[in-house]
Amino acid sequence: MDILYRPRRLRQNDAIRDLVRETELNVHDLIYPIFVMHGMNTQEGIQSMPGIYRYSVDRLMEELEDIVKLGIPGILIFGLPEYKDAVGSEAYADDGVVQEAVKAIKRRFPTLLVITDVCLCEYTDHGHCGIVKDGIVDNDASAELIARTALSHARAGADIVAPSDMMDGRIGAVRKALDQNGYQHVSIMAYSAKYASAFYGPFREAAQSAPQFGDRRSYQMDPANAREALREVKLDIQEGADIVMVKPALSYLDVIHAVRQRFDVPLAAYNVSGEYAMIRAASANGWMDEHNAALEALTSIKRAGADIIITYFAKDAAKWLDTIL
Ligand code: PBG
Repeated sequence: MDILYRPRRLRQNDAIRDLVRETELNVHDLIYPIFVMHGMNTQEGIQSMPGIYRYSVDRLMEELEDIVKLGIPGILIFGLPEYKDAVGSEAYADDGVVQEAVKAIKRRFPTLLVITDVCLCEYTDHGHCGIVKDGIVDNDASAELIARTALSHARAGADIVAPSDMMDGRIGAVRKALDQNGYQHVSIMAYSAKYASAFYGPFREAAQSAPQFGDRRSYQMDPANAREALREVKLDIQEGADIVMVKPALSYLDVIHAVRQRFDVPLAAYNVSGEYAMIRAASANGWMDEHNAALEALTSIKRAGADIIITYFAKDAAKWLDTIL
């Protein structure tokens, strides 16, 4: 054929492919989510998330040895409380499950980045991310408790607090609470564009946080909207977010890309429980190759523009990346 350009020339072998590769996944990009519970010597499996467990604090310490050895820079902590009530009291109790875990982790692994998910849904008996008044999630009262929760996490030693509730104005409320109490150095990773997604299904089993009535569409975003995500991100940056997040990741790569183009703050993407479960389930059936599918998914998230990827595949990916190098 008489053609001048033959793109296949640059795909001939590993060396040349390595040379022209545009996106490289790195273990330093990854954050591993962790579920922590009360009790001792307990490790519970989660049916819809094979390979992921809920740990009591003592068992978590063993798990963290591995995570640190693998070079994963940080974890994102979710708590399963002893009790749930209408106002999510354990979320902001200084001896709550997350607070106790953070203290223990920071004592033993001072250099591991500890990020805490700040929300009420695991702690409320109705399962919503805030306080319910007359059947409606009350924004301002909820934001106040979110700020209180973030402050108690900072007091326990969290490096970064990550509000995931989607109440209006909560980033500003969290920043103010931290600053007024001497925690100017604690960063905020804002779940800025968090969609009302079916891909959180397995997480709700893991964290026992499914809403007991209704759904989360009055605070989480409509999956049909991308411009609205840019407004949410802008507001969070104006209110003091250090890092912004898009969640989920794979069905929202366009949103990740748009945020990356428009804003200059570090951008995180959350490769959520359902995205993990899909690959795990299909691979377990022999329908696709887990290693390749997971690395392809994570690489696509980075290619779209994410600097930080929160993923249940973090441990596997760290091992896989290490054997490639
Ligand atoms: C809490 C929260 C959720 C997730 C992270 N923080 C669940 C939800 O909003 O229903 C989902 C994480 C995942 O699916 O992996 N608000």
